[in-house]
Amino acid sequence: MSANPPSDRPAGVLLRAADADAAHALLSLAQAAGIAVTLVAPEPPPVPKRPRATLVGAGPGDPELLTLRAVRALREADVVLYDALVEPAVLDLVPPKARRIDVGKRCGRHAMSQAAINTLIVREARAGAHVVRLKGGDPFIFGRGGEELDSLRAAGVPVEVVPGITAACATAARLGIPLTHRDVARSLHLVTGHGSDGAVPGHDWAGLAASGGTVAAYMAARTLPTIAARLTEAGLPGSTPAVAVENASRPGERALFGTLAELPACLHEQGFSGPTLVLIGAVVALAQARKDTLHRAA
Ligand SMILES: C[S@@+](CC[C@H](N)C(=O)[O-])C[C@H]1O[C@@H](n2cnc3c(N)ncnc32)[C@H](O)[C@@H]1O
Repeated sequence: MSANPPSDRPAGVLLRAADADAAHALLSLAQAAGIAVTLVAPEPPPVPKRPRATLVGAGPGDPELLTLRAVRALREADVVLYDALVEPAVLDLVPPKARRIDVGKRCGRHAMSQAAINTLIVREARAGAHVVRLKGGDPFIFGRGGEELDSLRAAGVPVEVVPGITAACATAARLGIPLTHRDVARSLHLVTGHGSDGAVPGHDWAGLAASGGTVAAYMAARTLPTIAARLTEAGLPGSTPAVAVENASRPGERALFGTLAELPACLHEQGFSGPTLVLIGAVVALAQARKDTLHRAA
């Protein structure tokens, strides 16, 4: 109960009571004493924030390649956990009120273990935050988004996934290379250049060589000599066109064209150290128009 309002207003009391019985009792007393009473609805209790997480694909780097849904998620974020591959220009879209946590991993140097990242996302979400987990490219393509999804589901945290443009698509678009093309490539194979032990995984090399499709090799700059050797041993001609693209859609983008046989040595010579994607297959030759203006191998 609060004191009477100032004298220019009618004398009386302002009554705010959450308990209906108490309100009634006070009302009767006040009326019996001839005091004017104004009843005010009780303040609603604060609504606890709903825990939620959104796994957002940040695309290859250029913020214009984000989806509208990704931008909305960033704007509604309370906390953003981001990877090393996320460009500063994308982080600029995060509102100042949101906390940013760098959980970046690059070339095997883990800023934070995957288990620690999973735990952190769940902890922040349970504290009532909308957690955005911002990942380079697409969260479900060599992005460990599946592990984060499993962990959030196991913790009962509602989670949404926002796809992103994966490096193979971004690279192909930058160079004007259709990843599939009628009569040239009827399939697309996304492969990783190394497993969790750092070694080249035991892909179905014969299947890849015989597919006639396009191979997009992620994280393959270091292991390209082995990948090229496995593919040629399996029957893919060394003359197959190939291109390595570093920093597609980011500052410092460069492309190195060659054949499957010559590209590994050229890549080594050029010292590509940024994120690099390798495309192998007949479709790479369709980039001819741009090839002349770009860095050529050999
Ligand atoms: C851990 S994987 C993440 C892939 C990511 N989730 C995606 O969908 O593109 C990192 C690898 O993606 C590729 N990559 C990512 N961004 C790239 C870019 N802007 N240019 C070239 N390759 C890129 C490189 O092969 C890099 O080693």
